[in-house]
Amino acid sequence: MLVGCQPGKPDVQTDAKTAFVDSVLSTMSIEDKAGEMTQLALEMLCVRPPSTPEKPKRQAPLEPHRLDSALVHEALIDLKVGSVLNCAGHAYGPDQWHEFIAGIQSAAAQKTTGIPVLYGIDAIHGATYTSGAILGPQQIGLAATWDTALVRKCAENTAIEVAASGIPWNFSPVLDVARDARWPRFWETFGEAPKLVGDMGVAMVRGYQEGPSPIAATLKHYVGYSRPLTGKDRTPAWIPERQLRQIFLPPFQAAIDAGAMSVMVNSGEVNGIPVHCDEHILTDILRDDLGFEGMVVTDWEDIRFLFERHMVAADYKEAIEMAIHAGIDMSMVPTDLEFPVLLAELVREGRVSEARMDESVRRILEMKYDLGLFTSGGMPPALSNYPAKESLEGAAARAAVKSITVLKNEGQHAIYPDKPILPIGGTGRILVTGPTANSLNALNGGWSGTWQGRDTAYNTPGRPTAVESMIEVFGADRIDFHEVGMNLTSSDIDRIAGHVAQTRPQCTVVFLGEMPYTEFPGNIEDLELFENQQELVQALKTTGTPVIGVYVGGRPRTFSETESMLDAFVMAYLPGDYGGRAIADVLIGAFNPSGRLPFTWPRHASAHLTHDRKFTEGETSGDFNPLYTFGSGLSYSHVETTSIALADSVYQLGDTVTVTVGLQNTGDRSTIETVILYSQDRVASITPSVDVLKAFKQVIVPAGASAEVQIQVNTDELGFIGKDNTYIVEPGVFGLRVKNQGIAFKLTL
Ligand code: BGC
Repeated sequence: MLVGCQPGKPDVQTDAKTAFVDSVLSTMSIEDKAGEMTQLALEMLCVRPPSTPEKPKRQAPLEPHRLDSALVHEALIDLKVGSVLNCAGHAYGPDQWHEFIAGIQSAAAQKTTGIPVLYGIDAIHGATYTSGAILGPQQIGLAATWDTALVRKCAENTAIEVAASGIPWNFSPVLDVARDARWPRFWETFGEAPKLVGDMGVAMVRGYQEGPSPIAATLKHYVGYSRPLTGKDRTPAWIPERQLRQIFLPPFQAAIDAGAMSVMVNSGEVNGIPVHCDEHILTDILRDDLGFEGMVVTDWEDIRFLFERHMVAADYKEAIEMAIHAGIDMSMVPTDLEFPVLLAELVREGRVSEARMDESVRRILEMKYDLGLFTSGGMPPALSNYPAKESLEGAAARAAVKSITVLKNEGQHAIYPDKPILPIGGTGRILVTGPTANSLNALNGGWSGTWQGRDTAYNTPGRPTAVESMIEVFGADRIDFHEVGMNLTSSDIDRIAGHVAQTRPQCTVVFLGEMPYTEFPGNIEDLELFENQQELVQALKTTGTPVIGVYVGGRPRTFSETESMLDAFVMAYLPGDYGGRAIADVLIGAFNPSGRLPFTWPRHASAHLTHDRKFTEGETSGDFNPLYTFGSGLSYSHVETTSIALADSVYQLGDTVTVTVGLQNTGDRSTIETVILYSQDRVASITPSVDVLKAFKQVIVPAGASAEVQIQVNTDELGFIGKDNTYIVEPGVFGLRVKNQGIAFKLTL
């Protein structure tokens, strides 16, 4: 566990830290401090081809990347830069990471202050930039497991590999709440429900910061990033303060309370103000209301963008002044050398006070102290201590298989007509096709080896794709694979459908979805699933052979007419390197599926509502008709919710309500059941939601058995953001619901 996140300890430690940081701070010049507040990208330190009159701009570093001692000297010693990030384009082996980190820290040790560099990286689903690392599901898949202990374990394992690579700081987790399926970073989130996002976020922060090899977590992207009006990355969001506090802030609050060490800021604008210069959001809310004491870093180039993109500052210098006043501690500059120079000038000119600068530098030094950098000098641990992969694979593979969500299982089984089509039994041939069937990149998504995650050169050899796993699990003689790409044509479709009509396999499995993307490159004009993929399903359906759809992708694209042609439909999200096997194990029935959808899958592109919709959003007109509701997910046994009971009918504010839920497994397989509890405030001064996710619990219900589960909700949690934008709980009648079982009670003050 890191020094800074030991709950309830340390007056002695805090005093020692304060004294140490004070003593370092007292020796620092304005330039030293400006450097500490500066973060540069690794590529700024790497050997590059020289600029020429034809190519006057800075060029991409030469491969293989190497530190350029002159550039390192200029940045770390002359400009005293205190932080470096990222990977200059792609993953490296642990040995190369060690060379970079050791080179950087040795240079940092030579500056007057000798303060080590704080290195940060995006290791969002495993150590994504360390080659060969264990890559588990992306956050949207982790959320579908509804298993916070497993998520914590995955984060612990990520921290082990990141720390073993010599890096102490991770830009993860994403705590944006996904409310718009078009948004290209939907898959980087834990879904649509603030409660699920918060619980998962806390688990991940604890995993990173409190495991055997702790690293610092970063809560991002604070706040309101996920709800731009256009659905496109970094475009304007308009979020009333009530909604900001009701939906978007609670996960940040929960993770701050859990001790998260840093926060990264939303690159976009909210209510007309770029968040990087919004003092209300960065200081009044973050520091005063949420009580965050850690370090705030900008997102990529975002201070510069205040004048280059948002047009709220006249020049770079004014942009820096605005951002620092608003509450930024460190600027992810990351590709110019002007920032520290201009910041020092601003202080010397009195436009930014040195006291304000000290606040930020103190937070940065405290973070470095908590990470033990002053003791280790930031040097990487011995390479021989790099963990054995086998010790880390289990959690990633378990999370992958637990995430797989069976959303539909209706078609008739080829061998046993009284059974649904899944799991695929029998011995017949299975035709497999679809653009995501044979791609490890599709399983992993963005931020895997490279930023966009599309370059096959950085995949770990030997990790199987979905079809390779199907061959392993079903046997090569059963799988008839027809490879197609994202650009599959009508003639490909005709050829495959013709082949199915001729050969009459037992069933077809068609892999749909998207190839990796993140940020701007993932923007879309239309939520509807690609036409050619829909045509493929339609053509396969006309053959009369049952069609099982598997969706590999991170956001719910609409395809309702085509979906009605599928006999079964499985959502795999972005399950990572172990996802191929996870899908195959679910299809064959080696694993009884337990994933539950962490968002509402819209039926139509213009009808994306969430589980916590208002009554006027279709409740009376019947327009709330998503393709799949939040929490959907089938297993190969049917578990019924048979009862819901409370000990009392009246509770007082502050009471804990224990809800007893009865379950009955009517099937012949043991099943993991997630009990999902919603609350309903029957009458409230701000229009209440139809349902709000309040609690969840996972239990195993053996075949044919019944079970009783107790879930607790504190009545303090039944409130909302009221008319004056503060949190209130109003007395009155509340409903509680698990699936089709509901009960009500009265709350008194
Ligand atoms: C992304 C962040 C990321 C940062 C550093 C930005 O473009 O928005 O999520 O942490 O780059 O790589």
